[in-house]
Amino acid sequence: MTRLSSILLAFTLAATYASAAVLHFGLGTGMGRRAPAEVITHCTVPGTVALTFDDGPYTWMTEISDAMTNAGANGTFFFNGNNWGCIYDEAMAARVKYAYDHNHQVASHTWQHLHLNTLNEHQLHVQMWLVEEAIYKITGAYIAFTRPPFGEYNDLVLEVAGMRGQIVANWDFDSGDTGGLTGAQSLNQYRTLIAAQPESILTLNHEINPDTVQILPQVIADLQAAGYRLTTLADCLGVEPYQFVSEPSERDASWTCEGRA
Ligand SMILES: *[C@@H]1O[C@H](CO)[C@@H](O)[C@H](O)[C@H]1NC(C)=O
Ligand SMILES: [Zn+2]
Repeated sequence: MTRLSSILLAFTLAATYASAAVLHFGLGTGMGRRAPAEVITHCTVPGTVALTFDDGPYTWMTEISDAMTNAGANGTFFFNGNNWGCIYDEAMAARVKYAYDHNHQVASHTWQHLHLNTLNEHQLHVQMWLVEEAIYKITGAYIAFTRPPFGEYNDLVLEVAGMRGQIVANWDFDSGDTGGLTGAQSLNQYRTLIAAQPESILTLNHEINPDTVQILPQVIADLQAAGYRLTTLADCLGVEPYQFVSEPSERDASWTCEGRA
């Protein structure tokens, strides 16, 4: 597929959502490019912590979501579309909706968790658009944040993300839960961090690691005991979580990962 046809395809899909089309492609300025996406690695509101969870939707969504909800905390999920499974599968879509319905922010970790620096412009649009579309259909929210897999980006990634109205979000604290740390070691890293009293914290965690799920209530308790407010990434930056919000769609034949990237 040529780049133009991919943009037209995306446009045709987006055009079914009138406001999406405008925000998506900046119709007000023709196909004019926006500035490259902003990259953020820190929360800017003092006293806040953004707990973020990558690589879902996955098996332990309810446990993670409930651990936060029960403690009066909100978090942020960066979802893939087709990595561990297809985001449109009943159970997966239900997890996305569960997170959204429980006041957590939902965002994109791209469709297949590829190394974005290896992709061309067309491929980047596809990797980003397919997740935006899926989350929009499932929740009714048009996302405004993308986390690149492995935290990797280049100028082209930022240009494409900027066209799509995305903020590119990395982190300032890695819990180490994909770096081979045990839950106990990860909890120790958190405790060392808290002892250093940073003004705010933006943490990377992974929804797919059972150790992360297990230590989460203690991590939350320790952060709250230190006086932090655990909130969404958008809220810890003082910006809107979504480009716009409408109603979820009904499941139909388009809710599939078949024949997509
Ligand atoms: C979590 O989100 C709800 C709904 O927006 C809000 O009322 C609550 O204050 C938030 N909690 C925190 C800790 O920011
Ligand atoms: Zn990831």
